[in-house]
Amino acid sequence: MSRVLELENVQKAFKLGFIPKTRQVLKGISLAVDEGEVFGYLGPNGAGKTTTIKCVLGLIFPDAGTIRMFGRSYLDPKAKAGLGFLPENPYFYDYLTAVEFLDFYARLFGIPAEVRSERIPRLLKMTSMERAADLPLRKFSRGMLQRVGLAQALINDPSLVILDEPLGGLDPLGRKEIRDIILGLRDAGKTVVFTSHILQDIEMICRRVAIIVGGRILSQGRLADLVSEKVLFTEITVSGVPEAELAAHGECVSEPGGRVMVKVYDEPGVEAVLESVRVRRARIHSLVPRTQTLEDIFVDMVKTT
Ligand SMILES: Nc1ncnc2c1ncn2[C@@H]1O[C@H](COP(=O)(O)OP(=O)(O)O)[C@@H](O)[C@H]1O
Ligand SMILES: [Mg+2]
Repeated sequence: MSRVLELENVQKAFKLGFIPKTRQVLKGISLAVDEGEVFGYLGPNGAGKTTTIKCVLGLIFPDAGTIRMFGRSYLDPKAKAGLGFLPENPYFYDYLTAVEFLDFYARLFGIPAEVRSERIPRLLKMTSMERAADLPLRKFSRGMLQRVGLAQALINDPSLVILDEPLGGLDPLGRKEIRDIILGLRDAGKTVVFTSHILQDIEMICRRVAIIVGGRILSQGRLADLVSEKVLFTEITVSGVPEAELAAHGECVSEPGGRVMVKVYDEPGVEAVLESVRVRRARIHSLVPRTQTLEDIFVDMVKTT
């Protein structure tokens, strides 16, 4: 498997104010993205995600570190030719229709007319925008704009697609549409890097993630390796056992219909609750072991930095 994108110790500071003060925004970012994977760049607002991406795109220059794309320097036009990008706050020309907008970007790339006439309808279909093809962009909803922005990011048929907060500001249905398009890109063999400050999106579709907090990568790797299978606690919902008896084994919460949910932190506690239920011929409504999620890890990291 080949490395599509590699950052090593990338640093960036900004100067702020009348009497300039420097602020270190990227404190040595190292990342590696492999061909064909969906890579999630996760971090709270202000962590440095967009700044990292601007460096990769060559829109701003890092103070130190190296960036390689497709095994070349990231500033090499041959590397950039294989790159597609959706910015965090894309700007749209309101009075262009979806087709005109895509055609405009395709011409910027110097894509010949016969390729454009095949590719634009294909991208509109892929992003479910066929019916809105001839509608001016000012009439588009946020979700439609995001989809047409994605089509734009794919106009040069890139093998690496970088999306900055592609799910930002979308409702659940809109998020699902974008997630499905990202998975479709992966299935078509493309490499996708996307940023998000929302865990669930990353958790659902990424193979590997990097977590950035305060300009530093705190963790990076396969989701399955970052999140351990260890059971944190078990939630058992029962009825017919007095709460006082259950309280000896864990924290209890009364639920409607005389049910009690008890949160048990160890294996003997789980056995003891099951034994009480058996002895009293009571009922178990559910038993759910809760394993660690990416959210637990993320919250811990943000708290301790
Ligand atoms: N051009 C700039 N000049 C000064 N500070 C900036 C500039 N761009 C970003 N920053 C600061 O760098 C930090 C990281 O920003 P950003 O990369 O946009 O975070 P994220 O995308 O993770 O939300 C923020 O504190 C932001 O205010
Ligand atoms: Mg950002």
